[in-house]
Amino acid sequence: MDHLFDPSKNMYYPPKEILKKANVKDYESLYKKSIEDREGYWAAEARKLEWYRKWDQVLDDSRKPFYKWFSGGKINIVHNALDRHQKNQTRNKLAIIWEGEPGDVRTFSYHALNREVTRFANVLKAMGARKGEVITIYMPQIPELVVAMLACAKIGAPHSVVYGGFSVEALAERIEDAQSRILITADGGFRRGKPTQLKKIANEAMQRSATIEVCIAVKRTGEECYMENDRDFWYHDLMGMPIANAGCCTEQTDSEDPLFILYTSGTTGKPKGLVHTHGGYAVYTATTYRDVFDIKPEDRWWCAADPGWITGHSYIVYAPLINGATIMMYEGAPNHPYPNRWWSMIEKYGINILYTSPTAIRGLMRFGASWADRHNLSSLRLLGSVGEPINPEAWKWYYEVIGKSRCPIMDTWWQTETGGFMITPLPVMPLKPGSAAKPFFGNEISIVDDHGKEVKQGDEGNLIIKNPWPGMARTILGDPDRYVEKYWEKYKEQGWYLAGDSARVDEDGYYWIIGRIDDVIKVSGYRLGSAEIESALVSHPAVSEAAAIGLPDELRGNIIHATVILRQNFTASPALAEELKVHVEKEIGPIAKPSFLEFADSLPKTRSGKIMRRVLRAKALGQDTGDLTTLEE
Ligand code: WT7
Repeated sequence: MDHLFDPSKNMYYPPKEILKKANVKDYESLYKKSIEDREGYWAAEARKLEWYRKWDQVLDDSRKPFYKWFSGGKINIVHNALDRHQKNQTRNKLAIIWEGEPGDVRTFSYHALNREVTRFANVLKAMGARKGEVITIYMPQIPELVVAMLACAKIGAPHSVVYGGFSVEALAERIEDAQSRILITADGGFRRGKPTQLKKIANEAMQRSATIEVCIAVKRTGEECYMENDRDFWYHDLMGMPIANAGCCTEQTDSEDPLFILYTSGTTGKPKGLVHTHGGYAVYTATTYRDVFDIKPEDRWWCAADPGWITGHSYIVYAPLINGATIMMYEGAPNHPYPNRWWSMIEKYGINILYTSPTAIRGLMRFGASWADRHNLSSLRLLGSVGEPINPEAWKWYYEVIGKSRCPIMDTWWQTETGGFMITPLPVMPLKPGSAAKPFFGNEISIVDDHGKEVKQGDEGNLIIKNPWPGMARTILGDPDRYVEKYWEKYKEQGWYLAGDSARVDEDGYYWIIGRIDDVIKVSGYRLGSAEIESALVSHPAVSEAAAIGLPDELRGNIIHATVILRQNFTASPALAEELKVHVEKEIGPIAKPSFLEFADSLPKTRSGKIMRRVLRAKALGQDTGDLTTLEE
């Protein structure tokens, strides 16, 4: 298959089969058209969905940067994801194939999924759920997580999914910010052969933030857990009540009604609840999915993220269901019980497309090719990567060992804020390992300096997006000023969106993402804020001040390094260092646990009191600390 690779340009060309069948054959001409008539392009895509009422206006930009898409329209994403499929043969197709970590398997046809969602929507209403109120979901990766999300959307109650790997403080903070009255959770899930204790964490969180009136728990592990009278109910008990079988019509929401809130880390300690909508988000995710992953009716699609992240919201749940795809879901760890778990499931279920993160690939790569080689992976046609830049070595391993040098890799750059892919290859595009290739249709992207001047080709600069797009987050829940300040203030005059990443573009127009320019740390592709980790540390009685930075790591992209100043009467010791690391794990979750923790007497700060993380980073890496003239201490 050497003819697919051109070493002089370091480019990989798509196989003939892919070219012949691709949903989009000519990127350049369609891109040009989509830019010349952006609204026309998106209107045409929107017409592929079913609307209760057509929109009056494609794009309303009268209150920049609070853009509205398809305003005046009425649509519910669940009508497009489930209801409309009941009218044709998709009804009998598998919507979800789910495998639990212990090996138990459950499947749902589109009919069965719709029935379960409708029944749970009835339950939610019976428990007092109202249109417009935020319902928090904190669950392991089990089918009921998808059912819960869709049931909320069906009745017009925005869901706020908190990743099941988060812990007490992270959950409590999100419940509180959203003022949720209803929490949907589970007793636990399975991870590396052991049951996790979700309900126990949920109980603690409910104590810290007292807004929850109703908690519905799915019984997954059967482990003992405390259930409070008149507050906590088992999912299966409620689903067994006659009320569950009533008819439930899908709520006719407005295009701009909120579909969900998803919290993500920023530069301050408080996570931002980004708001996504029914209309624009449905159009954007459905379109990007169809074009980039070239989805065909016979495909079995596996996005190996967790539904608790934007990747899972958009490309496990909504976009695949809107497109009538078959979704593979797996509950547990990729290397449990052995490092061939993923590869054996690809063979067993005949998976055609696998979408995962560089961290997962590097993690499996380290066990060697033999684990993959003992499985027949010939069903695979396309591969995908997301979450952080993929290093060329991992890219090549993924391409050669998993894709057998015939499956193009879609390296998709996007964010919680963007809703869907922004920079991405298409299957017909030649690929360069490590580059996310080109802007998706409708998007004009550029690399600029701090003054908004386009940098020289090949130079590093700030990644900006020049135009609105239907999948964009509309605001930050309860804090529109922060939304403006964070994303739109820097290039206010030009009206550009600041992504928070640095990047460069090469002579062929390919984008290369370098990394975050703010204090966001990407650990294993998960997004964490320095300030969040610092505030968890400071919540420990021994800590007076703390600084967290990211340091490069071969496996996880970055790892967390914390510097801590102790309060009087506390003495630094290896045991205390360990205790503090565990404290962060208990407050935020295992992903936030610092790998290194050192004690210091002071932190490098500017005269205005800002921690100079650059100095800490240089010091930790044994590099020159650079210009210290602004250093106060
Ligand atoms: C940040 C957004 C979008 C789903 C998962 C992450 C980094 C994301 C790539 C990629 C290089 C990437 C960026 C971005 N990122 N995809 N293909 N190549 N970097 O969503 O948690 O909101 O994080 O992830 O730094 O800003 P998120």
